[in-house]
Formats: sequence, C-alpha cells, structure tokens
Amino acid sequence: MKHDDALLHLRGAARYVRDIPVPQGTLHAAPVPSPVAHGKIRRLDASAAAEHEGVIAVFTARDIPGQNQIGNIIPDEPLLAAEDVEYIGQPLALIVADSLEAARAARSLIGLEIESFPPRLDPREAFARGEIIGAPRTFAQGDVDRAWPLCHVVVSGRADSGGQEHVYLETQSALAVPRDDGGVKVYSATQSPTLVQRTIARVLGLAMHQVEVEVPRLGGAFGGKEDQATAWAALAALAAFRLGRPVKLILSRQEDVRWTGKRHPYSSDYKIGLSEDAKILAYEVTFYQNAGASADLSPAILERTLFHTTNSYFIPHVRATAVSCRTHLPPFTAFRGFGGPQAMFVLEAAITRAAAALGIPAAEIQGKNLIRRDDELPYGMRFESDSPARCWDELDRRHDLAACRARIAAFNHDHALTKKGLAVMPVCFGISFTTTYLNQAASLVHVYTDGSVGISTAAVEMGQGVHRKIRRVAARTLGIELDRVRMESTNTTRVANTSPTAASSGADLNGHATRLACLQILESLKQALAAEHGCLVEQIYIDREEVLRGHERMDLSWKQLVSWAYARRIPLSAYASYATPGIHFDKSKEKGRPFAYHGVGTALIEASVDGLRGIPRIDSVKIVHDVGQSLDPAIDRGQIEGGLMQGIGWMTSEELVYSPEGKILSDSLATYKVPDIGATPEVTIAFLEDAQPPAGILGAKTVGEPPLMYGIGAYFAILDALRAFRPDLPLFFHAPLTAEKTFKALG
Ligand code: MOS
Repeated sequence: MKHDDALLHLRGAARYVRDIPVPQGTLHAAPVPSPVAHGKIRRLDASAAAEHEGVIAVFTARDIPGQNQIGNIIPDEPLLAAEDVEYIGQPLALIVADSLEAARAARSLIGLEIESFPPRLDPREAFARGEIIGAPRTFAQGDVDRAWPLCHVVVSGRADSGGQEHVYLETQSALAVPRDDGGVKVYSATQSPTLVQRTIARVLGLAMHQVEVEVPRLGGAFGGKEDQATAWAALAALAAFRLGRPVKLILSRQEDVRWTGKRHPYSSDYKIGLSEDAKILAYEVTFYQNAGASADLSPAILERTLFHTTNSYFIPHVRATAVSCRTHLPPFTAFRGFGGPQAMFVLEAAITRAAAALGIPAAEIQGKNLIRRDDELPYGMRFESDSPARCWDELDRRHDLAACRARIAAFNHDHALTKKGLAVMPVCFGISFTTTYLNQAASLVHVYTDGSVGISTAAVEMGQGVHRKIRRVAARTLGIELDRVRMESTNTTRVANTSPTAASSGADLNGHATRLACLQILESLKQALAAEHGCLVEQIYIDREEVLRGHERMDLSWKQLVSWAYARRIPLSAYASYATPGIHFDKSKEKGRPFAYHGVGTALIEASVDGLRGIPRIDSVKIVHDVGQSLDPAIDRGQIEGGLMQGIGWMTSEELVYSPEGKILSDSLATYKVPDIGATPEVTIAFLEDAQPPAGILGAKTVGEPPLMYGIGAYFAILDALRAFRPDLPLFFHAPLTAEKTFKALG
C-alpha cells in the first residue's frame, strides 16, 4: 500500500513535532497535574520547585496575560486551574527547565494543598443532580406514544458502552518559538490549527495574526487532537511568550493516557416496538453522555449521537433524547465516529433483544428495515440513495447470509467446547460537520517555473492519506503526473480560518477547494494559449502532461507550457475556497438537511468463543462498502481495515477502568488492551460497484469514520456465540465484551 509518507514512516525518518530540530536555547516544559478529581486549591507554592537545578520558571494561572480560558464550544475550561480542581491530571502549573528531566523532577517539589470532595463519575448520577452541560435535546418524528399499542412486541432495556483511548502513536506535542515582533510560532500536533491559533491568541492577549501555527503531520489523531491538542500548545506558547525562549512540551505515553480525554462513555435506555412481520414501528431512547469535567466537544458529539439514532434503518416513530452529563474525569472528546457509534450500539442492542422476543435472527429485522431512498430521517432529511439495501444485498450475494447461519449452526451442533456466532452490522454515517459553518475549506496552489506543484490546504495529514487524495485531485484536474504534486505542511499563515480535519470531511472539502484553485490556474493558461494560437479556450486540454488542441498534440509539454506562461506573466498561483452547498440545520426545530451525503456499508462478522477458557475471538469480517469512485483504493482499504479494528477494540478489549477516586487504573498499554496483529480476523472487503455519484470530490465518497462502526458487530457476534453455549443466558449490553465478561457469562 502506497501512502505519501510510506517510505519516511518505514525508515523512521518522518518528522513529527518532537523530531523538529529545536532552536538553540530551547527549554522543556512539564505540566503539574492535579492529584485529586474534585476539590479546591488552598495552597500552591512553587518556590521550592523554582529552586530546583535547571528550573527556569514555574507558571500558574496568575501568570496568564490574557484569558485563562481554552473552552471551544463553551468557555468552561481554564488552561491552568485557578481554584477549582475538576479531574485528576488537570494542569495546575507548568514547570519550565533546561531539560525535560529537570522539569519533571521538580514536580514533586510543588507545595500543594487541595481540599478534596467526593468525585462524581457516573453520568446518570450527574444528571440526577442537575450537573449537565447545555440543555437536553430531543429528535423526534411520528408519535411513539400512539405507536406502542399498535406494536406486536415491545421490549426495553439498558445499554452501556465504555470510553476509548485513542492510542495515537504520537503523543500530544508542541514546540513554541517566540518571534521577534512579540508574536509566537507554534508547531503543534493538532487537527485544528486555527483553534490552536485562536486559543493561544486569547490566552496571551494577542491578535490572531501574531500567532502562527504550523502542523507538519500527525502520528495519528482519531479525534484526540481535534480539541485536545490545544491545551499543550497554549501552555508551550505561554512559557515561550513569557520567557522569550523556545519551549517544547511533549507528553509521555502514560501522561497522555492519564490526562487527556477519550471517547465518551454512554449509558442509555431504549424501548423498541415491532409489528408481527418484524417491521420496526417505534423506537424511544435516552442517551446519558459522560462528558467529563468540561464541555470540550461534548455538545457537538451529543448532537451526532442524535443524528445516528436510527443508523441504517427507517423507523416511522422515533423519540430520542440526549443529555451531556458533567463528571470529574478528564473531558471526554472526539473519537472516530464522534458520538455516532454510541447511538448505533444502543439500536443494535434493542434489535437483538427484539429478535430474541420474536424468536428470529436479528439479521431478519435488520434486513427488513433498511432505509430506502426518500424515507425521512428523524432530523427531517430525506434519504437520497439506495446504498444501504444495495450493500446488504451485495453482501448477501457474495457470502449468502442464510448459508453462513446454517454453517455456524452445524458447527455449533458438532462442537461442544467451541461455539461460533454471527452478526451483521450495517452502517450509515452522515457526511458533513453537523455545525454547518465548519463545512468550508481553502487551498493555495503554486505551480513553480519547473512545472512542479506545491499545495497548502486546511487538511492535516494524520496517516489517513488525505494528502495523497488531494494530490490525486490536483494531478487529475491539471492533467499531470502525481509525482509533480507535493503537499505542504498545514500552516495558518498560508491557509487561514481552517476547520478541523475531522468529520470524515478533509478530503472532500479540501479536495474541492484544491480542484477549484487548479481550475483557476488552468483557465489562465488556456486563455493565454487560445489567444496565442487563435483558437477557443474550450479546445485546449492537458492530458498526461501534453497540451492538446482538440485531438491534436500541440507539441508542448506541461513543463514547457509553464515556462512559456511565466515568461508572459500569466499567474501560476491560485487560492480558492469551497463551502459545501445545500446543507442547513435548524436547531430550534431539530430539522434540516445537515449532510451532503451518507457513508454507507455493511459487515458480516463471525466470532468464536472457547468454552473452557472463555476467550472470544473474531474469526472473519466481510464488508461491502460504498466508496463511490474511489480516489485511491489502497488508502480506502487501509482506512476500512484500520477503522474496523479500532471498532473491534472498542467493543471487545479496550476497557477504561477508574478507581472510585476518579483515577484511571488502566493507564498503560499493559492494562489497556488494544487489538494486536494476533487478534486480527480475516478481512474481506468489496467496494460497492457502480455506486451512484455522490457529492464527494470527483465521485468519491469519504471513508474516514464509518468503518469503525462495523466493529460494533463484534459485540453481537460474540453474544451470539455465548448464546449457543447457553440459550438461557440473559442478554446484556455492556461494552466492551471482554474475555473476563465472556468467561463469567459462561458460568
Ligand atoms: Mo473526528 S472524531 O470528527 O476528529
């Protein structure tokens, strides 16, 4: 598989923030974390720490020249705690020293007295005490109350899903370098360069043009650097600004796992009603989101939970309520799927319970209720494709769901000590930021005099291959070879007011902007050529680096054309912006057309459980995914495989364990189990062929987040295998379904 940075990654030569050669005199910073989850600072004495050898300065909330505020959606998060302490790991002070070792060593010398109070860790408990962020929101269509009496079967219950640590390879990192004009340049490992810029300007009391943010590339992010890179960049900038010296701040793995936010845990109540022939008539659900100590992105994530209440299904009567609950844990944040997976898990739980009540396989309910073109979603958008049913049918055609079920039943009949289970997991994920104004991007394209091309966009390359996709867009638009096109770093002085690279929209938004900028350059070149040769602009093409007039070669290469144009003072650079057309959402009605299109696919997951040791295993996953006309099939395949494994990890092995004091206990990769190569099932991926043209770039559909949600099927496949051992086993929906839980379930 070819990724832009593949060779650099392979050789370990790709430079991340921590690898940037630092300017002379660079200092190192270590935050001082709160040891308690809930309390008030009574004394914070930095004098002994400041005396420690190598320590240059210790900064606290009092040293912040601007606002001590980094909250993005809601201003409820101080950069450094001033009085209230709200979670273990919250930064209380920043020690800056001439070595990282000295900065870290001085932490134990901070004189700290905190009056501590009992922490609140459970979202339902927080809700009961009125500790919520924003108001609860409800999406509704039809009338569930009138639908219940019409149902043949109604079941209800509770479903819980745990949080998830991002485990990006590169931990949170920043390097801040003071500028000679009093501003600061910050190298930040962030998905949101502009958010970092705006926040640093606020914290330091500067104008945004005094803050430059440069993002070389990220070693993974998965949402964990959408809002949560900001604090570390702002701390480094604060120290650099105050001291007039470069300051580097890199979290160790354990610090990162302990202090930073993760996927939101959810606790939910559901009720579902079906007709005799397995049509879902009504669905009611309440989502309690564990937001942690401050809002961070929680309100936006909560909103996406509501948008994905019904996943791939059409349900005529729906009422979904979601509430964000404030607890004393590090603020939970974006993670691939952004609240959508949490909603989909609950609906699959409801369907599984309903299937048991009806005595039919869950797949029968799933297949019968897939959303069709023109069906209305609970948020008022009419569904615009047939992809869910087409992916389902294609999966069935390729793998024969009934035959799989029969094969598994036969296996289970013949084997006493191992049982297999099966689940189908359809996914339908809205593509666009649900905050409509974020759906914009820009691109700055330079054609150099040798014909090579350099592109700056708002897109941050974090391993997902967005740079390769944008290069493909430029090469195809200009009619030149891919190797001529290079992506530059993401920098707020080249492309301003960037939306985060998130919401699976990076390639679409920045690809569109790049295409428009390339078209501008192309238009100038064609106009000059047409004038020179006395022909029409429309007659001129560039194909495979050759200039054509009609079907005739003009004996002019791309390289020659560029030098020719430069000598005639034709512009060879262009800047273009793009805003997704036709999307809108009215929060007062909770209705609109928030998405440009939906990312769609279906997975068939087979699991087995070892009855003696209780160990579950995902054996195989077969996927049909609608990628539209893939811009880069190898990148898309990699994204699907990676997303799937991340989803399987969330559902089966990755378990966040906290002490009653609010301290994370699973704080290393020895105690927090991410799936490894040994846990990888056989994965078969087919792209839905001749998919209908979507609103993505050049006929392609996004592939970033949706595949994670295939992993939800792992939970239900394992549960199916457990029920093959014990048909009397009560259904339980409490993810992750770890080996400990399967072992206990087998009794
Ligand atoms: Mo992504 S979870 O939208 O950063």
